[in-house]
Amino acid sequence: MEKGLRLENISKRYGTMTAVDSLTLTVPSGIVFGLLGPNGAGKTTTLEIIEGLRRPDEGHVWWNDMDVTRNPEHARSHFGMQLQTSAFFELLTVKETLELFHSLYRKRLSVGDLIERLDLTEKQNARVGGLSGGQQQRLALACALINDPEVVFLDEPSAGLDPQARRTLWDVILGLKSEGRTVVLTTHYMEEAEVLADRLAIIDHGHVLDEGTPRELIQRHMPAAVIELSRTVGVDASVDLPAVQRTENRDEMTILVSDHLENTLVGLVNWAQREGRELTGLTTRSATLEDVFLELTGRSLRE
Ligand SMILES: Nc1ncnc2c1ncn2[C@@H]1O[C@H](COP(=O)(O)OP(=O)(O)OP(=O)(O)O)[C@@H](O)[C@H]1O
Ligand SMILES: [Mg+2]
Repeated sequence: MEKGLRLENISKRYGTMTAVDSLTLTVPSGIVFGLLGPNGAGKTTTLEIIEGLRRPDEGHVWWNDMDVTRNPEHARSHFGMQLQTSAFFELLTVKETLELFHSLYRKRLSVGDLIERLDLTEKQNARVGGLSGGQQQRLALACALINDPEVVFLDEPSAGLDPQARRTLWDVILGLKSEGRTVVLTTHYMEEAEVLADRLAIIDHGHVLDEGTPRELIQRHMPAAVIELSRTVGVDASVDLPAVQRTENRDEMTILVSDHLENTLVGLVNWAQREGRELTGLTTRSATLEDVFLELTGRSLRE
């Protein structure tokens, strides 16, 4: 059997409201997997079910050959979890908090190493109640790692972090992957998902709209890239360029919509050299994951 997490037809209802709707998903071991979706899409509920914190009404979660739905406690000893909202004892210091969690596990990482890794050295003797939101977020991640987990679940780990702390977090996450751990995270930052996630699922209304590598998703839903250049260059529809879907003039610019940016650019550069033209005002833009997200979910991100 392939190693990793498998969700088979998971459903979860709250009263008459279906939060997760027959969701099926596979997360191979050793990768960073991103769950994307608008607010209320069912990401947190799905994570809580995979983590064994919430029982699904239907379906099963497997981790390797372990049935997480039937053995949640056993599975959780291999999992680390940062929940969307964490509660700590406000009067304990950062170090004391980590030492408390540390004392609960047999297999564990060192408190000192985690403090250093999450950039909490200066705050190790500060009371948790006095930490800023971003510092609490980092403490929550340190707590998620204390039991040396094989799978780490992070629910919006970068919410509220400043740009520098976010980069530190990205390094930590990529570090976890390089150690062979699996990371499953949710985020509302498309750039972050593109940078970190090897594979992504975009979910809405509790089911998967599509799944794949960021590149696959962009290619599947937004294959076109756009090249713009000054109209004075003189490229028009009579110029035969590879992979161009259409050529338009907009004000002072010529717009080329391309199925394959690189091929079109190479053709364009060759044409310009042959004809002795300068490619004035050349810019390119490609579709992003955000375009794909909006295309699939039909609504913008709501944080
Ligand atoms: N304990 C609960 N009781 C009732 N309804 C709930 C409960 N938890 C979640 N829901 C509902 O289930 C749906 C999915 O919620 P969930 O928290 O999984 O969404 P999410 O994708 O994590 O959203 P966000 O991006 O805002 O964190 C929402 O409509 C929410 O209101
Ligand atoms: Mg959530």
